[in-house]
Amino acid sequence: MVFLARNVFAQVQRRAFSSTAANAYKVAVLGAAGGIGQPLSLLLKLNDKVTDLSLYDLRGAPGVAADVSHVPTNSTVKGYLPDNGGLEKALTGAEVILIPAGVPRKPGMTRDDLFNTNASIVRDLAKAAAEYAPKAFILVIANPVNSTVPIVAEVYKSKGVYDPKRLFGVTTLDVLRASRFISEVKGTDPNDEPVTVVGGHSGVTIVPLLSQSNHPNIEGETLDALVHRIQFGGDEVVKAKDGAGSATLSMAQAAARFANSLLSSISGTTVTEPTFVDSPLFKDEGIEFFSSQVTLGPSGAEEIHPLGKLNEYEEKLIDAAKVDLKKNIAKGVKFVAENP
Ligand code: NAI
Repeated sequence: MVFLARNVFAQVQRRAFSSTAANAYKVAVLGAAGGIGQPLSLLLKLNDKVTDLSLYDLRGAPGVAADVSHVPTNSTVKGYLPDNGGLEKALTGAEVILIPAGVPRKPGMTRDDLFNTNASIVRDLAKAAAEYAPKAFILVIANPVNSTVPIVAEVYKSKGVYDPKRLFGVTTLDVLRASRFISEVKGTDPNDEPVTVVGGHSGVTIVPLLSQSNHPNIEGETLDALVHRIQFGGDEVVKAKDGAGSATLSMAQAAARFANSLLSSISGTTVTEPTFVDSPLFKDEGIEFFSSQVTLGPSGAEEIHPLGKLNEYEEKLIDAAKVDLKKNIAKGVKFVAENP
């Protein structure tokens, strides 16, 4: 498994300028001029599997594209605004679409507080993607991910183009935070600390499976504090930015990492990592989407893995996650039904 930031960058460096037809992809970023969109666009420019980088935003995308286009890697970059059919041009031919468009949190807000603004942004971008690039893999970053992913699914279903294997909620930042935070507790290198994080992407729906990590014996207050930090780590950034937004740089790195995993997988090197997908794991309990380890391959989410052995502590975390997840998913589905 390609796991770590360092390895991702090493890989990108090694493969620079070696694109072949087999790993040449058009990747579109919707919301490319934002706090996440800009560094994400830069990191994608450094990925040699990306040969066409298509940057769209309501404002600023041509400037970001001109800037990023000077980075000396062998790909073209184009920036688009809504006028002159910009969204259609940005999406046509795209094989992978990343959606960081939408407002971020301010101190005191939960991700669910973003729903009213971001639900319609994601719905409208999904409509365009369904029309202009119905076969593309969609990576949803915009929050609340637990609801925006179901929104994309509902839009795609309504257009008759839904392929559950091609839709992903990006939860990679939770996985990277878990590695980082456990390494701080243990004084180790985060590159050697893989942690499986399952459930969803907000508060108690984020469930790190520490019993499956290198440190299954962490317990007591240390365990409680670590789990809380992984679940609410985003709040540290929101608070420190003091009204100027949420995680952007670490998030861009997380999204670039997941995009790289997907691009590697569709080019034939399968990767397994957690992501929020249409999942059979808890469907019988009415939970249509869940994050767990997923093996990515040429058709997308090829194998959704079960959670594995959990301890009693984790069983309780999963139970709490399921309650919120069910509501978050239902909210997304209802939104599209009432506001098609
Ligand atoms: P930002 O406000 O800096 O950037 C958002 C960009 O989206 C802006 O440039 C804006 O013009 C653009 N935009 C808004 N509506 C659009 C539309 N209809 N079409 C195209 N572009 C549009 O926000 P930031 O910090 O980049 O965050 C973006 C989203 O990512 C937020 O919803 C945030 O909560 C989420 N996020 C997700 C994380 C995850 O782990 N999945 C982690 C951190 C943030």
